Amino acid sequence: MNRSELVYVIEDDSTTATITRILLEKNLHSGRVQLYANGQQAFNQLAAALSKGTDDVPDLILLDLNMPLMDGWEFLDAFSRLPLPHPVCVLVLTSSINPEDRIKAASYQSVAGYFAKPLELSSVMQILRLRRAASGPEPRKPNVAGAPLHHLVYQSHATTPLDELELARLLTQSRAYNAAHGLTGLLLYSQGSIMQLLEGSEAHVDAVFARIARDPRHTRVVKLADGPVSHRLFAQWSMGFQTINPFDFAQLTGYISPNPIGL
Ligand SMILES: Cc1cc2nc3c(=O)[nH]c(=O)nc-3n(C[C@H](O)[C@H](O)[C@H](O)COP(=O)(O)O)c2cc1C
Repeated sequence: MNRSELVYVIEDDSTTATITRILLEKNLHSGRVQLYANGQQAFNQLAAALSKGTDDVPDLILLDLNMPLMDGWEFLDAFSRLPLPHPVCVLVLTSSINPEDRIKAASYQSVAGYFAKPLELSSVMQILRLRRAASGPEPRKPNVAGAPLHHLVYQSHATTPLDELELARLLTQSRAYNAAHGLTGLLLYSQGSIMQLLEGSEAHVDAVFARIARDPRHTRVVKLADGPVSHRLFAQWSMGFQTINPFDFAQLTGYISPNPIGL
């Protein structure tokens, strides 16, 4: 058994927990699924595994939001302070249809996806894809071994203004891919104006930028910087995010790169 084969399902409703477990076990080729009835139980188990130095740390956590003792938000707050030995893909699995919950979930770096209960087979397939992406072969923060570090900054404009929910979806989608490819960075958004900084190996930065540049959600994509760098500015963030006011946006874009270059 290697480290990438343990799943925590944190869910207080025992029927949902059991269905989730069955669906996962049917579709995982190997590994274990452990059920926890609330965030506190799961957190205690995880903290104990870390303090013993065992490799019994999950690579995938399915997290309900509304639970007794320690709810999903409290778990995420506590979880984000833990020194984890490898990337852990956290997916929220909730019956909440409140868009604010989805937006709040995306504000957590560790959250790579948001799914509605009850879990369907198509969602399980997507979950397994996200899990594979998050535990890709490359380390999350350091450079790809031997590959020089590269960064790229571009500016663009949303085709139609992106609301918070659309931004949250975009972020959760981006983070799983970025984490799997050793990419980090920052996305700034200000009333339709976008600026993004991507850092990682040149090959991965170029590949993700090619995908981003043809994304119809934005237009007038202009590179502001593209070249080698000695270190990461956002090593902790598979994609940090900030909405800011237009004045700060103009200041920052000028600060990050005063000399735009053509595509
Ligand atoms: C402003 C903006 C920023 C994006 N940033 C990223 C990113 O950092 N990582 C990522 O994987 N996708 C990002 N995307 C999404 C990609 O454009 C694309 O939809 C996604 O990679 C899926 O690509 P595919 O449809 O070619 O598979 C971003 C999209 C937009 C509009």
